[in-house]
Amino acid sequence: MKTIAIANQKGGVGKTTLAINLAAGLATLGRKVLLIDLDPQASLTLSTIGESSGQCIAEVIGGALPGNLLLSDIIRPLSENLDLAPGGLSLSISEIGLITRMGRENILKKALSSVNQYDVAIIDCGPSLGLLVENALNAADGVLIPTLPTPVDKRGVSIFIESLNAVRSELNPNLMILGLVICQYDRRLKLHQQILEEFQNIQLPILAVIGRSIEIARTVGEGKPLSSGRLLPQMQELSAKIDFWLRNGKFES
Ligand SMILES: Nc1ncnc2c1ncn2[C@@H]1O[C@H](COP(=O)(O)OP(=O)(O)O)[C@@H](O)[C@H]1O
Ligand SMILES: [Mg+2]
Repeated sequence: MKTIAIANQKGGVGKTTLAINLAAGLATLGRKVLLIDLDPQASLTLSTIGESSGQCIAEVIGGALPGNLLLSDIIRPLSENLDLAPGGLSLSISEIGLITRMGRENILKKALSSVNQYDVAIIDCGPSLGLLVENALNAADGVLIPTLPTPVDKRGVSIFIESLNAVRSELNPNLMILGLVICQYDRRLKLHQQILEEFQNIQLPILAVIGRSIEIARTVGEGKPLSSGRLLPQMQELSAKIDFWLRNGKFES
């Protein structure tokens, strides 16, 4: 199983939207997908199963003490080939407890090694650089960075890349920065065009440029898993690229 973290320390950039759409896209292509909601705000859980009050991954991760459930205990089916490990507000309590826990960066990685029926786990991270995100990046083979095409977000991405490099040198040398996904792009805006060009000049692949779309905005917040028929073409293309990477460990040249 490969693990992909979807992360950016900034909120509102499209992480959860990307996680849901990519997971649905890969499931349609026949991959067995586990979506993991690691954000205490649990918007992925709310927008797929419509509530976040049941057992959640916080009870697997634990806090100062180990959790009392296995990852397989909390997994819920969403649609064909697609399951969810729900998140919840108690993740924020977990994160505080983890500070004093031995082996604190390895907990999610260990939990993931106990499930083996999936081709890929996709982790939707919260908007921080805390211990939960560190756990996700330590467990991941690749990281996808969604961002908006604005100057502030571009600076945010540079800062995030520095953190990723720190994770690679201190914890997980195998972590591959898969690339950027530019979200809510409006090609009529000069500023967006300019920032996209600037992003193209840094040494990172841009895997997709996704326009503003009402349909996509609905995917987070509707309270039900989306069907593949509703995926935007850009999300389908991105899913095909990631599918190739899952099977070959590199992108099609
Ligand atoms: N391409 C898009 N077009 C329009 N709205 C979008 C698009 N991508 C995301 N959104 C909306 O932007 C908001 C933030 O997206 P979300 O995926 O929740 O970001 P994050 O998880 O990084 O906080 C949500 O309300 C979502 O519906
Ligand atoms: Mg989110």
